[in-house]
Amino acid sequence: MKSKRVLSGVQPTGALHLGNWLGAINNWVELQKTHETFVCVVDLHALTIPHDPKALEENTLTTAALYIACGMDPDQCSIFVQSQITAHSELCWLLNCLTPVNWLERMIQYKEKSIKQGDNVSVGLLDYPVLMAADILLYDADLVPVGEDQKQHLELARDIAQQRVNAKFGDKEKPLLKIPKPLILKEGAKIMSLLDGTKKMSKSDPNENSRITLLDSPDLIAKKIKKAKTDAHLGLEFNNSTRPEANNLLGLYAMLSGLGRDVVEKECSDIGWGKFKPLLADATINAIEPIQKKYYELRNDPTELSQILTNGRFKAEEVAQETLKRVQVALGLLSTDKI
Ligand code: TYM
Repeated sequence: MKSKRVLSGVQPTGALHLGNWLGAINNWVELQKTHETFVCVVDLHALTIPHDPKALEENTLTTAALYIACGMDPDQCSIFVQSQITAHSELCWLLNCLTPVNWLERMIQYKEKSIKQGDNVSVGLLDYPVLMAADILLYDADLVPVGEDQKQHLELARDIAQQRVNAKFGDKEKPLLKIPKPLILKEGAKIMSLLDGTKKMSKSDPNENSRITLLDSPDLIAKKIKKAKTDAHLGLEFNNSTRPEANNLLGLYAMLSGLGRDVVEKECSDIGWGKFKPLLADATINAIEPIQKKYYELRNDPTELSQILTNGRFKAEEVAQETLKRVQVALGLLSTDKI
């Protein structure tokens, strides 16, 4: 019996990239062995910026299939689509009514994304972290494995649960909501853009050469790495703040080759970028190849994927409904069994 719970998710806003994989999904794969694990495709979050409905449906399936291709095992965890569990939106509303607007206006991602959207910022974009809090709190998650960029959202989820729900409506002996902890690993938590070692690798970067996706062909991977930004030094090294690209690409090589940081630092200490890039390209292609193989098998068998998502939905629904009910009662909403 696995006694602790894990919840996490990725937005289906485009093919997952190395950052999503190494920063988040890789952690889930390990955690599912020891923790009761729920992972969802957070399609409601994908509505917070302008979107194409056809692409969203397709990306939702792609994302779910990639979870499995990366090693999420439907026999060990529950994989589901966020919008299919209505409790996420319902708890989000309840939390909305308890969360101060200025907590949301402080969120770094909101500030960054709203600048890009000018006059078109939706209420949903501001509310994004409250929906994320609902995702997590519904499952009484102990741990939430995410990349570094999600730390502030996790802190918000904790504050909402502790200060706004438990403190006001809970019982000291038996808190209403479990306070989740973020799990952010040292290695992989912040993979940087291939074109700028000081900027996070991101799905929303308009330049596709800035990221490698898990569905890029070997040729495209080699091309993108060839175009990656370099510097004028010979030899690669970690922890030289004037060389962010060396730090990022050497880190990627350490993880993708499986050799680890010490070995690659020695191997690459006096080679030039021209020699290093093919090494990184080969390691990336080899690491991604089994993921792609599994992915295409799954996409060719839609019945299996749909069965996995249906099973995941049933398991998630049960847990989510129970928590929602608990909060509704504590907030004084009249239950149907009382009338
Ligand atoms: P999303 O889709 O932007 O990112 C999904 C996961 O990938 C991590 N990540 C990175 N890690 C390392 N380096 C990068 N360059 C990089 N880019 C992204 C993110 O930290 C994240 O873990 N808001 C969430 C989705 C979400 C969620 C949740 C997560 C909604 N509800 C509940 C956990 C629990 C997000 O950023 O998705």
